[in-house]
Amino acid sequence: MTSTLNDRPPPYYASPVQPPSYASAVNHSTIGQGSNYQPYYIPPPASVPPPSYVAQERRPISPKSKLCGGKKRCFSSSGGCLILCGLVAVAIWLGVRYGSKILSDVINNKNSTYVAETCPAGTQYCDGKAECSQGGDELGCVRFGSNYSLQVMNSKDMKFYPVCSTNWSDSFSDKTCKQLGFNGFYKTDTFVSSSPALTVSPSKPSQNIQGQLQINSACQGCVSLECIACGVQKGSGRIIGGAPSTLGKWPWQVSLHHNNYPTCGGTIVAPSFVITAAHCFPSTEYKNAGSWKVYAGVVSQASLTPPLYVSKIIINERYSGTNNDFDIAVMRLKRPVTFSSTVQPVCLPTFDQVFATGTACWTTGFGTLQSGASSGSPNLMEVSVNIIDQSTCNGPKVYNGVLTPNMMCAGNLQGGVDSCQGDSGGPLVCKVADRWYLAGVTSWGVGCGLKNKPGVYTRVTQQLSWVYSCMEAEKP
Ligand code: ARG
Repeated sequence: MTSTLNDRPPPYYASPVQPPSYASAVNHSTIGQGSNYQPYYIPPPASVPPPSYVAQERRPISPKSKLCGGKKRCFSSSGGCLILCGLVAVAIWLGVRYGSKILSDVINNKNSTYVAETCPAGTQYCDGKAECSQGGDELGCVRFGSNYSLQVMNSKDMKFYPVCSTNWSDSFSDKTCKQLGFNGFYKTDTFVSSSPALTVSPSKPSQNIQGQLQINSACQGCVSLECIACGVQKGSGRIIGGAPSTLGKWPWQVSLHHNNYPTCGGTIVAPSFVITAAHCFPSTEYKNAGSWKVYAGVVSQASLTPPLYVSKIIINERYSGTNNDFDIAVMRLKRPVTFSSTVQPVCLPTFDQVFATGTACWTTGFGTLQSGASSGSPNLMEVSVNIIDQSTCNGPKVYNGVLTPNMMCAGNLQGGVDSCQGDSGGPLVCKVADRWYLAGVTSWGVGCGLKNKPGVYTRVTQQLSWVYSCMEAEKP
């Protein structure tokens, strides 16, 4: 499972990422292959230019849009310039006032918490005190390991430690989950462990959980924490490859409409947060949160539920339109969605979760169905795809070195099962012990369903720290 990070443009100019438009998609797809759906949607107005991924350079990033921490840092719909100017002014002022160095690319940890802001000299990360101009030094400090073990970064050595159950109580669980953008906690437990851990000191009040923890080598038990009841299918669906789905079977799937046109898929992970692909926002027009509607609990574009609105679109600042690396974005909903038998969150994987080669997972979406289709599927389609070994997928016969560690392949090297144009941003989910986990985000592929050209998905385990940082920065 190794591959090298690849900065050069992939040689697949012809098709890495196709426009998330239903207008001109030439398609070979296979979600629902063989079905006889008629093109259903009218192409969007010609004024919506299909984003050209071919020539797209890595876009220049403003200091503001680079960040996923702090309240005002991400791409917002309006008043963006005012806020941006204000932030720049504050940043400059802070820079002058504290003589601090501008950290252009501070990578909080190996993954992808990538913050650009001004931090005073000697800033301590994850110590409970926000010191950087936008608080990025306190983001990405919490993660979950196997069996939901709660782990927090210790500011002293910048390492993650489990949290000791001594002194722990439900109110800390609640605080931790709220900090991460959830409504509260779902389940908390303790397990036996003698590894060094961090212990809460009630006498050390702090706005965030990391500020209340201290290293303790004599801990006997640690905390496990689940922030949300997730990954449960509520509908009673049938399972057939490339078939229309049924309501409640993939209750985390949403359809993202840009200017009232179904453009991408997305996945609900929390009441206020949807994960999708960065390439769904190829231009300023698409980055406008006000131009999107989110439909949850739908399996037919012909019977939509009332839409949810978006307050912010947060695109991974390391996303590259050239090779599609870091193809992930978070949508913050204006109002939290109400869960029901047809609307449910999927589980985010733990940071160390492995989706083994050969695992049969599923991908779903309203993307195109067949070659020549001029529009997406009117019905939510589902297809089972197997996780493909990374080195095989990056090997000479398949993608020949263009995959980065942030990508994973799923499908079938013989071809025939795949996601396709319009499915982007939607889920690749795998079932583990009765729960469904978001393993990937539909990103790209050469054609659809072709031999040796499987679907490529953003590897979610590599993006968890970025995702949680976004959720924390934009928590309700
Ligand atoms: N980029 C496409 C979209 O915008 C998704 C393509 C997925 N391709 C594939 N062969 N799996 O919808």
